[in-house]
Amino acid sequence: MKVDVLLGLQWGDEGKGKIVDYLAPSYDVICRFQGGPNAGHTLKFDGQKYVLHTIPSGIFRDNIINLVGNGVVIDPITFQKEVDKLTSAGIQYEDRLLIAEKAHLILPTHRMLDAASELAKGAQKIGSTLKGIGPTYMDKTGRNGLRVGDILEPDFMNRYDQLKSKHLGLLKMYPELPDFDLEGEEAKWHEAIAKLKQFTIVNGEFYINQALSDGKSILAEGAQGSMLDIDYGTYPFVTSSSTITAGVCVGLGVAPSKIGEVIGITKAYCTRVGSGPFPTELFDDIGEKLRKEGAEFGATTGRPRRCGWIDLVQLKYTCMLNGVTQLVLTKADVLNTFDTIKTCIAYELDSGETTELPFDLTRPDLQPIYKSYKGWQTSLEDIKAFNDLPAQASDYIIELEKYLDCKVTMISTGPDRKELIPVNA
Ligand code: GDP
Ligand code: IMO
Ligand code: MG
Repeated sequence: MKVDVLLGLQWGDEGKGKIVDYLAPSYDVICRFQGGPNAGHTLKFDGQKYVLHTIPSGIFRDNIINLVGNGVVIDPITFQKEVDKLTSAGIQYEDRLLIAEKAHLILPTHRMLDAASELAKGAQKIGSTLKGIGPTYMDKTGRNGLRVGDILEPDFMNRYDQLKSKHLGLLKMYPELPDFDLEGEEAKWHEAIAKLKQFTIVNGEFYINQALSDGKSILAEGAQGSMLDIDYGTYPFVTSSSTITAGVCVGLGVAPSKIGEVIGITKAYCTRVGSGPFPTELFDDIGEKLRKEGAEFGATTGRPRRCGWIDLVQLKYTCMLNGVTQLVLTKADVLNTFDTIKTCIAYELDSGETTELPFDLTRPDLQPIYKSYKGWQTSLEDIKAFNDLPAQASDYIIELEKYLDCKVTMISTGPDRKELIPVNA
């Protein structure tokens, strides 16, 4: 068996949570492999909406194992809040939610450092979710971090104190400190650590490889999006983990030869939250209409998302990076009332047209070149088969497939689990 991968091809929030929840019954195990509570994955079914940050999106499906993998960074406080919500929703998770022992822990002082760093950057800030992601991955690569497995060791408290002291020293470098109730947050953190000990903590890499040997089907659920990848995203306006397919290998401990299908998700348009370049961003009424129709407000921070047209140059790049074998198009319904729809098919530069993503997406000579389509201007609500789509919608999708050289296998037409059109080959 192989590990299938599902990940975002844009700047995050492509609808990964919804699609993982839809696909989960076809798998035995769903795993997160990177990121942490900066993620906000929304699921909707039976009239209820749930937002997950650390827990994989297979948790609402019976009998499916959900693994928080080695590459994830865990804030025990957020994790406990998510678990409490599952309990209130009557979800039985106890024997289905596993945590990898090598996953790193986010300390309250990591969150303080995140906020202090953003304050110091001023107008140049990343627009971080302030969940402590950057500082935690910095401690991981700096070889100072604390891992989930450490909480069971007798010297854990000493190690916590040492790391906290180091952080307090670093915080002195910053001219301005954020408002932060460190004592209060620490009390919550230690309480949450005590609860974390009651979870099933596993050796993630052995667990996954054994599951593969036992013939179990596994889906790796990406967080963020490929354009936020630490290496290939719009650096420095990125997150601090490998959000691409390669990240699955390091994040779960599986060999590259064990990767199966790679399902890449894109919205029918494009959004970004936080700072950084976004060539097709719209600052006019059309951008506002996309935000309104798409309810584009962050699932983790509530911030309004920046909106623009779909960028095929950008998508071709992320399809290449990830080795995408199937595309999922989400939020197609958001375009229902548009009379014209545009796709960016190339960038105009002083040196000529290009379909290759340049080093600097903020360069002043970069202008997106658009192709316009007539909108379908009808609801997609009751459509359950590709052949029943209005011709303008199916033509638009076929053009995307041609440009990206990849088949669209699912079209999402609303936030609910049921609002989905599977496309058969
Ligand atoms: P994720 O981070 O990739 O899981 O995506 P988010 O949950 O942050 O953002 C996606 C938002 O769009 C959520 O509010 C979803 O409920 C919603 N959504 C997902 N798919 C669709 C769709 O096809 N149509 C519409 N209108 N909303 C969708
Ligand atoms: P999901 O999984 C959209 C963005 C932040 C910021 C940058 C760095 O829901 O798609 P960080 O907190 O990681 O230091 O922030 O990355 N960002 C996301 N944007 N969706 C996400 O996750 C994101 N996670 C981080 O807004 O610009
Ligand atoms: Mg999200």
